[in-house]
Amino acid sequence: MTAFDQAMARAQREVEAALDRLLPKPEGPEGRLFEAMRYAVFAGGKRFRPFLVCESARLFAVANEAALRVAAAVECVHTYSLVHDDLPCMDDDDLRRGQPTVHRKFDEATAVLAGDALLTFAFELLGEPETHERARVRIELVRRLAAAAGGQGMVGGQMIDLASEGKALDISTITRLQRLKTGALIAFSCEAGAVLGRASDEALHALRAYAHDMGLAFQIADDLLDAEGDPERLGKATAKDAAAGKATFVSILGIERARAQARMLSDQAIQHLDLFDGKADLLREAARFVITRDN
Ligand code: IPE
Ligand code: IPE
Ligand code: MG
Ligand code: MG
Ligand code: MG
Repeated sequence: MTAFDQAMARAQREVEAALDRLLPKPEGPEGRLFEAMRYAVFAGGKRFRPFLVCESARLFAVANEAALRVAAAVECVHTYSLVHDDLPCMDDDDLRRGQPTVHRKFDEATAVLAGDALLTFAFELLGEPETHERARVRIELVRRLAAAAGGQGMVGGQMIDLASEGKALDISTITRLQRLKTGALIAFSCEAGAVLGRASDEALHALRAYAHDMGLAFQIADDLLDAEGDPERLGKATAKDAAAGKATFVSILGIERARAQARMLSDQAIQHLDLFDGKADLLREAARFVITRDN
């Protein structure tokens, strides 16, 4: 196992333990809601965003517990976005992380509510004093995660994604779509360590620039995997984007040029880390991982 694989496995293990500890237990008349939230969260997933939070936090010697709480919050927002993305009114998918999607396993209303509750739970977590002793830092995390998840971030990107079905977008519009839909939450994950560690603006900007390129490469890889990946390995259906007429880098550039673009972005992302020493090596590896991953 490489150092990168070990760090990913560790982030996965630790964030899952934190989520298990922090998420409400399925009890009472609303127990079905908590069951659905836990079902969605514990179905699997790479936990790549938690890994980014933990690794960016490590650059600034942030306490592990603080990083894990923020990592858990990001994973809740990400999981909510997947639960809603899979709904019949959106991408209409039956399989996610190798299991039936939440609306398939439960029902649509429960899936909508589980998503709502995961999203709001993330902000509750960030607001709690255990996340950081300084209220100012907690507010900064809340503000940044809200901006990344909302209409000028992930939700805005999802709107453009849906509104663009069947349309041929130009490269700059697709780039913006992807940066909002996927890039914003990935960028928050990379910035969070710097916010927790009260790092310099220079360090924050470097991580932001890194995430900007790496996040776009991550989504291009997702589109490539939809076009040519193994559904078994991915735990979700493939060939859905072309069928739905989604505007992606693959639909515009074709497979080879989309892959070249992802490679270029990955290299560019690594260059933004020049300011950091060997402590950023795993983030450098992460930029390589996003374009070579098979799930
Ligand atoms: C899938 O994200 C959806 C996108 C934003 C591209 P991931 O590939 O991180 O999915 P999981 O969390 O590993 O299931
Ligand atoms: C989803 O993008 C991005 C978000 C959930 C914000 P996709 O629709 O491409 O993700 P998959 O392919 O279903 O995982
Ligand atoms: Mg989608
Ligand atoms: Mg989808
Ligand atoms: Mg996809």
